[in-house]
Amino acid sequence: MKATTIALAAAAGLASAAVPALAQDFDAVLKARQGEMRIMAINLGILGGMARGNLEYNAEMAQAAADTLVAVSQINQRPLWREGSDNMSIDGTKALPMIWDDMAGFRADWVAFGEAAAAAAATVANGQEALGPALRGIGGTCQACHEAFREADS
Ligand code: HEC
Repeated sequence: MKATTIALAAAAGLASAAVPALAQDFDAVLKARQGEMRIMAINLGILGGMARGNLEYNAEMAQAAADTLVAVSQINQRPLWREGSDNMSIDGTKALPMIWDDMAGFRADWVAFGEAAAAAAATVANGQEALGPALRGIGGTCQACHEAFREADS
């Protein structure tokens, strides 16, 4: 695949120019990080549904959702945010270049999410009224990172 790309670039007379990163080089990385975000949204949605009463409160389900958020927060993030996989370099992502300009800030936002998820996991089985604070705690960390590091929806 790569050899073909280079050969094509050479044939097109582009060999001396920097070969731009190709979205498919980052396919697995994008699927993995966007997939983990979907898992987070689904499980936050379960807690949100129960908090609003759209979904009947169930302590076991709430615990499972919060535990899943904690588990996702423990996934090694380093390989998922590879340099060159920002939205200015490749298609198919909303990751802003700012992530790589401020990796420490990005990591800190991920840690904050993990801490909020852990705090939620310690309370959500206590009853429906525990869900609101847990939800706001976690939701605030999603929002903070998205505002700083994710392309806004157009
Ligand atoms: C440390 C930063 C950070 C935190 C914390 C974070 N996100 Fe994200 N999220 C991102 C970035 C960056 C993207 C864009 C990823 C991409 O397009 O490659 C994203 C994308 C998403 C997407 C779109 C996925 C797709 O299919 O393209 C969803 C949904 C999402 N986040 C939900 C959440 C939820 C829910 C939380 C909190 C429980 C959360 N995120 C916490 C940074 C974060």
